[in-house]
Amino acid sequence: MHGVAQHKEKFRAMSDIYKIGLIGCGVVGQQVAEILRCEADEISKKTGLRLQLVRVCDKDRSQAVKAGIPDDLFTTQAADIFNDKSIAAVVELVGGTTVAKDFVLRALDAGQDVVTANKALLAKFGREIYRAAHAQNRAVAFEASCGGGIPLILPLRNGLVANRINAIYGILNGTCNYILSEMSTKGKSYAEALAEAQAAGFAELDPTLDVSGGDTAHKLAILASIAFCCDVDLDRLNVEGIEQLDAEDISAGKELGYVCKLLGIAQRADSGISLRVHPAFVHHDHPLASTAGSFNAISVYGNWVGHTLFLGRGAGGKPTASAVVADLIDLASGNAGRTFRYPMLNDCTTAPKYVPVEELRSRFYVRLQVADRPGVMGKITNVFGARQISIRAVTQHERVEAAVGGSVSVVVLTHEAVEGRMREALDEISALDVVQAKPVLIRVVSEHAEYAS
Ligand code: HSE
Repeated sequence: MHGVAQHKEKFRAMSDIYKIGLIGCGVVGQQVAEILRCEADEISKKTGLRLQLVRVCDKDRSQAVKAGIPDDLFTTQAADIFNDKSIAAVVELVGGTTVAKDFVLRALDAGQDVVTANKALLAKFGREIYRAAHAQNRAVAFEASCGGGIPLILPLRNGLVANRINAIYGILNGTCNYILSEMSTKGKSYAEALAEAQAAGFAELDPTLDVSGGDTAHKLAILASIAFCCDVDLDRLNVEGIEQLDAEDISAGKELGYVCKLLGIAQRADSGISLRVHPAFVHHDHPLASTAGSFNAISVYGNWVGHTLFLGRGAGGKPTASAVVADLIDLASGNAGRTFRYPMLNDCTTAPKYVPVEELRSRFYVRLQVADRPGVMGKITNVFGARQISIRAVTQHERVEAAVGGSVSVVVLTHEAVEGRMREALDEISALDVVQAKPVLIRVVSEHAEYAS
């Protein structure tokens, strides 16, 4: 078949209705239904594809009612979706790693492609799920799992594929970014800002996953597995959240020109890869610093392309649904390459070597609560000096009371140092009789060198 006939045949195939089953009709599911309803003609005009939501499953009928799902499409039985051979793709938006895993595997087993936003599921059970998909010659698409509506998975797989990715620095959790922005710019309390993020639908059902850094860790594991072409072990990530952050440190950092962000950082070096999630200070003129509210921003450094930055709404129903529908269109159009989707299954993939966090180098912010009396600063600087940790800035504010002997905060910014040595120094400083509270340590993240690993 050539020319016009071939084109007509292709167009006819593309005009077939692509039937979709949706499991989970919550914040994101409702918006997926809405996009498929409102944008059907526009999608068809742009792609030649007809996407149709033919079944919606949820435990709670009222959720489907909110999304305007007709009664005859609704079911409480997921099996109704797996048993319907006309359904080409199942969208899993249940969340969690138990029932959701079962649904994903059953859909693949039934010969259906899967679209999911479930980062916890993929970070923990990705290998098993990708293997099942591979065995069934089906696809699991997960653009919505990282960065909400920001295209990240596709660019890593396609647009940047010629590159060796050296580093990813990401603000990957909208809830944490919202909380930190509100605390920093509006002086809100942590609890107040968290409640607002929950009300806006950014937070996970269990917000502990957001604020503990767990959600960021899941996303980083997924991104790193693609970027570094390996099977990332979630347990090897060093993860710290924002629950322990003190407003005093956010404002002390601000005074020095830094903004506090929860970052997921993946780096590749000759000695191995490092993956970590922790609060970090970034200089106020760094692009990540100005990413506020529920926005996410992800810097990706490739050896040819240099620095690329992806920015957009990282959480919430509408942005996440936008990514889910993009995956559906990708699958319906047949563009979703089934073998290329799972680099961690390649035969050539070997388990990565993880660089221990103690060996990593960074700058540090340290806040010490110390006695305000002679010789204290000397004792502290001696400890740093003995471990080759060089001080770059020190701040101590004048106390209101004039008398010697009270308590005062001392903030130290260091030059780059090895984390293991910094931890030893802080253990020693904590033991000094003049130190009155556990020292606060926050890493200061500098711009990654564009063309060096
Ligand atoms: N709870 C997540 C966040 C939603 O706040 O970023 C998207 O994964």
